[in-house]
Amino acid sequence: MNNPGFLSLTVALLGFLSPCLTALTPRVSFPMGSPGRHLTRFSSHDVNNTTTLLLSADGDMLYVGARDAVLALDVSHKDTIILRSKLDWSPSDKDLEQCSMKGKKMADCPNFIRVLQFLNTTHIYACGTFAFSPRCTYINSETLSMSLKPDEGRGRCPYDPYQRNTAIIVDGELYTGTVADYRGNRPVISRHLSEGRRADLKLDDTLGWLEDPTFISASFIPDEEKIFFFFSEVGREYDFIDKFIVSRVSQICMSDVGGQRTLQRRWTTFAKAQLLCQADNQLPYNVLQDIDTLPPAEGAPADDTLFYGIFTSQWSVNSGRSAVCSFRLSDIRSVFAGNYKVLNRDTLQWSARVQEKVANPGECGLHNASDNVLRFVKENFLADDSVRPVGRSLTMVSAEQNYSHLTVQRVQATNSRTYTVLFLLTETGYLHKVVLLQSGAHIIEEVQVFEQPQPVKSMKLSISKGMIFVGTSEGVVKVPTANCSFYWTCAQCVLARDPFCGWDPVGRACVGVSNTHATLRQDIDRGQVEEACNSVLLTHKTRFGPNKLPAASCPAGELVSVSLNEVVRLKCPAASQLSQQLWERPNSRLSSDLYLLLEDGSLSFVATPATLGHYLCLSTENDYQQTMAVYQVKQKNTPMTPTGYSRLEIHPVPTTQSLDRPGLITSGRTWPKRTESRQGVTKPTLSNRDAQGTTRQLGKNVTRWTKESGQTEAEVPEGDPLLAARSLCYLKELVVVSVLLVLCLSLLITMVLYVIRQHWRSRTAPQAGSPTRDSDRMTPVEHEALRGNEFLSKRNGQPLCSGHASGFNGALTGSNGHLPNTPI
Ligand SMILES: *[C@@H]1O[C@H](CO)[C@@H](O)[C@H](O)[C@H]1NC(C)=O
Ligand SMILES: *[C@@H]1O[C@H](CO)[C@@H](O)[C@H](O)[C@H]1NC(C)=O
Ligand SMILES: *[C@@H]1O[C@H](CO)[C@@H](O)[C@H](O)[C@H]1NC(C)=O
Ligand SMILES: *[C@@H]1O[C@H](CO)[C@@H](O)[C@H](O)[C@H]1NC(C)=O
Repeated sequence: MNNPGFLSLTVALLGFLSPCLTALTPRVSFPMGSPGRHLTRFSSHDVNNTTTLLLSADGDMLYVGARDAVLALDVSHKDTIILRSKLDWSPSDKDLEQCSMKGKKMADCPNFIRVLQFLNTTHIYACGTFAFSPRCTYINSETLSMSLKPDEGRGRCPYDPYQRNTAIIVDGELYTGTVADYRGNRPVISRHLSEGRRADLKLDDTLGWLEDPTFISASFIPDEEKIFFFFSEVGREYDFIDKFIVSRVSQICMSDVGGQRTLQRRWTTFAKAQLLCQADNQLPYNVLQDIDTLPPAEGAPADDTLFYGIFTSQWSVNSGRSAVCSFRLSDIRSVFAGNYKVLNRDTLQWSARVQEKVANPGECGLHNASDNVLRFVKENFLADDSVRPVGRSLTMVSAEQNYSHLTVQRVQATNSRTYTVLFLLTETGYLHKVVLLQSGAHIIEEVQVFEQPQPVKSMKLSISKGMIFVGTSEGVVKVPTANCSFYWTCAQCVLARDPFCGWDPVGRACVGVSNTHATLRQDIDRGQVEEACNSVLLTHKTRFGPNKLPAASCPAGELVSVSLNEVVRLKCPAASQLSQQLWERPNSRLSSDLYLLLEDGSLSFVATPATLGHYLCLSTENDYQQTMAVYQVKQKNTPMTPTGYSRLEIHPVPTTQSLDRPGLITSGRTWPKRTESRQGVTKPTLSNRDAQGTTRQLGKNVTRWTKESGQTEAEVPEGDPLLAARSLCYLKELVVVSVLLVLCLSLLITMVLYVIRQHWRSRTAPQAGSPTRDSDRMTPVEHEALRGNEFLSKRNGQPLCSGHASGFNGALTGSNGHLPNTPI
């Protein structure tokens, strides 16, 4: 506030902003159908259960594995997804009959495509569950025609469509993690399609190399010539806890050809280690949900490869929460190079190996090794150390979201620093875009991608096209990774802290960083508008600039015509979900006794001669303040006030004592006291009409600047205060309605309680009319206030919300959203 003459009331919307959640509220929310973010959908009545997605190298074609079909979708066009071809691949009636005879539900018997990988430049390799009898085939990627003879799918694809699996083809060989039997209890990690002298390999299963795993993903690390598998499984080394789930990374070498006698046709390079996603002194987030590889930045060593994983917890304490942890390749490597645990076959206890190391398990190139070495390798496959997350801390924790899928991307900002951006899909159907900053994770925005929670099987990021593809049971959704033009002003563009977007001061637009060579303004780390937009515009400084307006024309803001004694409610649209709203009146005061601040930031008051005039709603975010709305409240021309329309009465009473909050100027000579009747307070007589102009607004006509030839109480600012109103979150409307509902309910409850109390009092008080002891201690004004506000606590005559009464940055925690109006 640069002008001390003005008063302001601030509402911190603490309902949304309780401390631990603050950092994790998405700044902007795009609900379904919002014009700020166009989603392109592909769905078709005969395409269901899109479980696997495969993106062509140029990002123009998306291959989709669905139920009984493989599709080729052309995704190179901006606003549409075109079906290029479709391959039907379903079991015969006889197969289905057999499937259901085996006791399987008919709905699970179709062919669910679970492996879809490029084999070479002309062919795709695909496998499906095929009526609980998995099959694989070669598909020409141009024509989508299938080779005549399907392959056996055992060990490459699960039988049961509900079992998770993972597959990756490198150099024409297929590496898979799946269960290899009908019952689903023989998990294997294996290699197929090997040619020449290389044998197909699988896991030795005599020693329990895997314990009931759920496969999540496989990643090829070119520099190491290794394939990593990520999964969760039962952690047998923790035998003191029943079925303790641990997350794992395991590795195998591509050069592996198996042993000559020992470990023939078996991996000689398999090793696994625990992935720990755990903060100090807290239960670990132990169940891996999804993981993605972030290759090192250009020129950085392969060691800097990072793996970002989503973890949830097995324990109910952490249910509904999820955490993101990142792991560095070099840490995984050193864990695999370290010591290994050994299983005592008699006691079935794991312990750290004490005897001499005969070989280095996990080392590539052991195929010619002696039986002795291979026997050692066979028994020592569980690394003693766990892989700890980068910085030994969690990258981010969400207390309210169960994330299920993620992809990660490095984005170069205009300051040529790179930022890590995560795209996290929530189980409720929102995509969160998160930038990782020194200060923690910042959720730039959320986009609703589907309405009903539904199982998402696949999410793919096309960095070259700036698109994310999500496969749901209903089809495919394409979401652009950014829409910079949504940010209308430099301030909004900078406050978003989106590394994809920067403000072009010449073109006066927020544009994509990669699409332009202009010098753009950005401040990802701090989001400081003043600095970043300095030479561009500074509207808020000119807010009350007295000489800014031509004397003849004085924009008056949105006109609100009221009758006296009517309850007025002015809406204050939020600039973002992280902003705080604040009200100002030029040349007048906002006393807490005249004004109610509702939790959604709107201002409610009774129209009296004293409350007519101008109102400004400001929004503060990250130290930057902008005007969101200007109103002029005027008395209607009709002189008569319809009585009974409003149930509020205002009685001015003389007062000598200032009862205002610090930072507020008292409302002059008069101290209106308030007697409220039952329904009066929150009746939003004007709010609907008023609200529409601002909160629904997305176009440029955000304010209706009306010219007033009559009296104007104050000069109201020029500038473009409302440009930023575009970025309102639609959620607010929902919130407004909910808040109103809650207000009404709590008011009702309060009334009921009051009536009961009155009833009780009248029975217990010695004299029906005499003041209670509580009210004895009160000043007459307080007494009035108490009478008017039933929500005061019984015990000491203090308002329930007195703890927050010292300033207006506190929350309005009173059950009905009133400002506390009894001073301490
Ligand atoms: C980006 O936002 C602007 C402004 O809301 C909207 O007009 C435009 O359609 C959006 N573009 C996309 C691709 O979502
Ligand atoms: C296929 O999709 C339907 C909903 O469309 C779902 O109920 C069913 O569980 C899915 N089947 C599999 C195997 O995912
Ligand atoms: C790709 O693999 C298929 C199936 O093995 C084969 O028929 C085709 O010739 C291969 N194409 C190339 C370019 O190697
Ligand atoms: C294994 O050793 C034999 C001789 O010791 C050698 O001829 C052969 O090339 C080696 N095999 C591999 C795969 O290195």
